[in-house]
Formats: sequence, structure tokens, C-alpha cells
Amino acid sequence: MKIISVVGARPNFMKIAPFAKAISAHNSADPDRLIEHILVHTGQHYDVRMSEGFFHSLGIPDPDINLEIGSGSHAEQVGQTMIAFEKVLIQEKPDWVVVVGDVNATLACSVAAKKLCVKVCHIEAGLRSGDMTMPEEINRLVTDRLSDLLLTPDAISGHNLRAEGVPEEKIRFVGNIMIDTLEANRDKAAQLLMEDILRENLLLPEKESPAVDLSGDFALLTMHRPSNVDQKEVLGPILNFLTGEVAPRMPLIWPIHPRARKMLENFGLWEKAVACANLVLLHPIGYHEMLRLNMQASIMLTDSGGLQEECCVLGTPCLTLRWNTERPVTLKEHGGASVLVGNNVDRIREEFHTALQNDRAPQRPELWDGLTAARCVSWLVDSE
Ligand code: UD1
Repeated sequence: MKIISVVGARPNFMKIAPFAKAISAHNSADPDRLIEHILVHTGQHYDVRMSEGFFHSLGIPDPDINLEIGSGSHAEQVGQTMIAFEKVLIQEKPDWVVVVGDVNATLACSVAAKKLCVKVCHIEAGLRSGDMTMPEEINRLVTDRLSDLLLTPDAISGHNLRAEGVPEEKIRFVGNIMIDTLEANRDKAAQLLMEDILRENLLLPEKESPAVDLSGDFALLTMHRPSNVDQKEVLGPILNFLTGEVAPRMPLIWPIHPRARKMLENFGLWEKAVACANLVLLHPIGYHEMLRLNMQASIMLTDSGGLQEECCVLGTPCLTLRWNTERPVTLKEHGGASVLVGNNVDRIREEFHTALQNDRAPQRPELWDGLTAARCVSWLVDSE
């Protein structure tokens, strides 16, 4: 069997790492049913800190093919990926294309594959935010509609797919593949020293002296969704809250996404962030560094999907800077660690103070057990 798997942007890398390892394990255990695996990187994310660094630190094999799509509008990224990936499909003639998550690569490669009658398997199928203003929701809906094998991370995702009429025989509940990566890397992350993480990743080394003290409470922030960072009327008040109310109370660590940085600069807000004494701006950081900070943070503020899930398993109180989530299993009402606070500062403030009263409460949704990738490979082999 020949499989092409696809990565494009940062959140894909921690999903493909365990999948690639599980294929190697399968090939060692069952050489009669060898899987030939070709890894394609669309090149949507290209900075060392957004891409290459993860291949090294997570032990992902180098991509066999890089389509070098780079930045652009959604149509540009999707269109160019389809054109380039179609050539790969014609040359390689895979039995399956495996896509993960919900980024533009996920959509583009699913469509290109199905148009050439190549079977598609979607890992992390069935997540739904119900928010059609979110580019990822469109990517999820189209990918799932086209997929032949839909591997779901939780029971709610399976219900979503059945409600949309996806035939039962296409749906398999495998658990959350991101948690395979978390479990495989938590010991290594625990050994990192906080001071080293800060020192090696400071965006403005000249600013942070003397070094900030992370022995007590500290908050961790990530923000990159267009709904939070692309409008000054939204980003401005959030930044005021962070610099005026969070940072004066505890160190606030912000590994800043290129999109958020670019928007702060465009809106004339960058100087304000830089001037805030207790706000520590970092470059985008590596997987282990983020995991280490998350293990110890008193509170997470984020609009990332993956971090909501990691906070759930680590028990870090999490304010999700969104009005909806495709990952309801991470919410407090489902036993998780996260609350939806949107981008309204009054709401963020109220939940910030409530969350600080909460102790860590690690949760483990069903099949978030570190063994998901092996189940994905088994279902693919069984589907032949
Ligand atoms: C993409 C994904 C999003 C995911 C996020 C994680 C889609 C639709 N969105 O959003 O689901 O949560 O990645 O990071 O696929 N840039 C760099 N260096 C890079 C990559 C990007 O500087 O290596 C800058 C570019 O200026 C670009 C901007 O970041 O314009 C945004 O990048 P883009 O690939 O358009 O989407 P993300 O916002 O990263």
C-alpha cells in the first residue's frame, strides 16, 4: 500500500509525527503488508521556527517533497497547492492520501486527490465549530464530505458526522493524535529549564533585563486567529487588558505568531506591547518549550485549538479567546479545563479572575491515551 501524507502549517507537524512513527512500527511488525510512505509538505509555513524546527525536535522524517507554496490569500494558497499536489499524485499514484487537521493544505490536497479518484483519509475528522466565518470550518466541512475514511478524536465528532449523513462504515473513533505527541514528549519537556527557554527565545533580548522571575504565578498567551488579530478595534482593547491588567499582576509570556506581530505593527500597537515591563515577547517557540511552559503556567489565554486540548490533559486553566470551539470536549462543562471568553474584554476579565481560583484539574477524554496513531494505521491497513 502506498500512502501520501500531507503537512502544511505548524499544527500539522505534531499530528504527523506519531503517524509517521506508527507506519515505521507497522512496517517492522508486518513486513508482508509494507506501507510505502511519502511525506509531502505544502510549504504554507516556511520559517525555521514555524516549520523546520518541529521536524528536528519531533523526529519527523524530512519531507520527501516540498511544494513551497508559502504565504498568500486563501485562494492563492489553496489553488497553488492543488496545482502542485496534482502533479505529485499523477507521478506517485498513491492508494491513499492522508490529511490531518483543518488548514488550507488539508482542504487543497483532499480536493486534488478526490478529483483523481484517490482515496482520502482525514485524521481529526468531525470537529465542528458551526462558525462559517472561520476558514478552518470550511476546510473541515469540505474535507470530511470528500473523505473515504474519517478518523475521529472524540465521541462528539462522531455524532457530528452521523448528523451530516456520513455513512457509519466510514467513521472510526481513534482518539486524539496530538495527545500521542504530548505523551511521547512530556518527560523531555519537563527537563527543560524555564530560564533557558526564555533566554533562547527572547524576541527583544535588550529589553528583558533583569530576567523575569517565573517561580511564582505566570500567564501564557497565544493569539493568531484573524477574528482576534486582524481588526484594530478587537486587538487594541485585548492588548490594553493584557498590558494594563494581566502583566501588572504576573509575568505574561507571549510567544508571538508572525500574523499577530504583523498586525500589531500595522495598527501602531507594537510599541505598546514592547513597552510593557512584565510582558515577555518570545519568538514562536518549539514543541517542548511550549509544553514545559504550559505544564507550569497558572493560566493560559489562547485561540489555538491544539493548546485547548493540551490544557485539558495538563489541567491548565484555559481561557479560550473565541466565541465557539470545534473542541467542546475541552470545555469545563464537559469536564475539561477551558472556558470560552470570546474577545470581549469584560468577559475575559471576569473569567480571568475566576480561573485563577481554580486548581489544575487534568482530564483525559476517552482514547486520548497516546495510542491513536497506531489505531489510525490499523484502520488504513484494514480498509485496503
Ligand atoms: C494557519 C492555519 C491555522 C493554524 C495556524 C497555526 C489555515 C487556514 N490557517 O494560520 O488554522 O491555526 O496556521 O499557525 O491554514 N508567516 C510567516 N512565516 C511562516 C508562515 C507565515 O511569517 O512560516 C506569516 C505570513 O506573513 C502570513 C501570516 O504569517 O501572511 C499568516 O500565515 P498563514 O499561513 O496565512 O496562516 P496562519 O495565520 O499561520
